Amino acid sequence: MADLVEQAKKKASYAAIDEHINANTHVIGIGSGSTVVYCVERLAQRFKSEPGLKIRACIPTSFQANQLILEAGLPLAELNAHPVIDVTFDGADEIDASLNCIKGGGGCHLQEKLVAAASKKFVVVADYRKESTALGIQWTKGIPVEVIPMAYVTIQKKIQGLGPCVTDSGNLILDVFLGVLTGDAAVTDAHLKLITIPGVVETGLFIGMAGWAYLGAADGSVKTLT
Ligand code: A5P
Repeated sequence: MADLVEQAKKKASYAAIDEHINANTHVIGIGSGSTVVYCVERLAQRFKSEPGLKIRACIPTSFQANQLILEAGLPLAELNAHPVIDVTFDGADEIDASLNCIKGGGGCHLQEKLVAAASKKFVVVADYRKESTALGIQWTKGIPVEVIPMAYVTIQKKIQGLGPCVTDSGNLILDVFLGVLTGDAAVTDAHLKLITIPGVVETGLFIGMAGWAYLGAADGSVKTLT
């Protein structure tokens, strides 16, 4: 089982990199989590072996991504130095048929969303366990919500969030249970309900951001959603 999942993550990541990286891809966003490790692995292989690739900058979404870029020998840069990103690759905790995602299971969704929002293309890579007809079916650990530490007890009382844990940005994560979110309107309502609370910095609901999802299957094939 564990091997099948790892194989699925790797196949999805390699397919995504091979389809979206070419001589015109110069600035690349690097997401966080265990699946993007394979994106970085494939990117580094191609960066070293294809002189035609002109990758100028890789923008991290977390301390983990920062280290992955450095260790792979890829060019690390800040978002402020490259505010327009050609393509970002990132994992997801769950993805629905409209490519809405729950992200932030690793506590990185604030920086992930900032990088995704600065990207011309946002590509999700995941294994077969993440595909869902509605958010909240596969991922049952709640929606990660990043909050300002000073207000976390107040917010926790309002939204019954579990937690907290500390993020790379020095904020706290609360996991909020809102049940199954069926359809775009329900996902948007859930995001708005949370984001309008003073002290909430960002939710783990990525609505309409992903243009592609590469999902590795247990049989070694890769399914593409657009
Ligand atoms: C990090 O906070 C998350 O958004 C990850 O991108 C997400 O949890 C997917 O991680 P895996 O690739 O490890 O499943």
